[in-house]
Amino acid sequence: MSAVVIDGFAVAASVRSRVAAEVATLVQRGISPCLAVVLVGEDPASVSYVSGKEKALAEVGMTDRSYRLPSHTTESELLDLIARLNADTSVHGILVQLPLPRHIDEARIIMAIDPAKDVDGFHPVNVGNMVIDRPCFLPCTPHGVLVLLREAGIETRGAHAVVVGRSNIVGKPLAILLARRDCNSTVTVCHTGTRDLPAITKQADILIAAVGKPRVITADMIKPGAAVIDVGVNRVEDPTAKKGFRLVGDVDFQPACEVASFITPVPRGVGPMTIAMLMENTLLAAQRNL
Ligand code: GUN
Repeated sequence: MSAVVIDGFAVAASVRSRVAAEVATLVQRGISPCLAVVLVGEDPASVSYVSGKEKALAEVGMTDRSYRLPSHTTESELLDLIARLNADTSVHGILVQLPLPRHIDEARIIMAIDPAKDVDGFHPVNVGNMVIDRPCFLPCTPHGVLVLLREAGIETRGAHAVVVGRSNIVGKPLAILLARRDCNSTVTVCHTGTRDLPAITKQADILIAAVGKPRVITADMIKPGAAVIDVGVNRVEDPTAKKGFRLVGDVDFQPACEVASFITPVPRGVGPMTIAMLMENTLLAAQRNL
């Protein structure tokens, strides 16, 4: 068997083109959806993610306000910037790229963002509303995974979904979303305290890898015919690559293709969806502001 490889790049492009059409309508009415993108420090992966987001903003016709701050920026300087962006009516969304330098309290920064501009969906008000099925900004990566599952025609209703990883950004919200009535999956969350990980992953109809470690999900951990969604983006050294590294997922891709029915690649799988859903959330933020 060889799995269908889900083209996240193509699905993301179609989301972006739908968003671009709606942005054009708003621009005609004199509103230019604007996202403020804040990056503190020069973590290479974060620099690359942020430039991907800025490129997508330009492509869908939105305005971006970039703030590149030095790594020694203090928590209070960052809080001041957020207060200014909260008050600025020409800014519809605020994104502070994570992780932040260690001297800054991430939770405090997230909580300072106006929930109506929290296009990441990280503020406790948005997280809480997501849990109780109220309108909110859905976090971009989990939302992107749901769109990929839907577009690939993967049945979530009644499926056993196993989420490996319990981060605030991916694992936890994805578990909540998959268990909601509209997805109706039965969800198991695995983490570093899980005793026999392969025994559980092998029960998954839908296996979500959100661990952050290269190739830890091996083919023998996958149930034949499962749909495998790889959220991992890991840099591994590769002297033959131009940049000296290449990106691999949390799943050992080639052998997994022989067992799974569907699989997402890295790159061009979940990654582009995160950015596409960010564009959608920024559009929503601007529309709600009308
Ligand atoms: N770091 C890794 N993923 C994300 C994300 O989706 N949003 C932000 N703000 N930071 C991240």
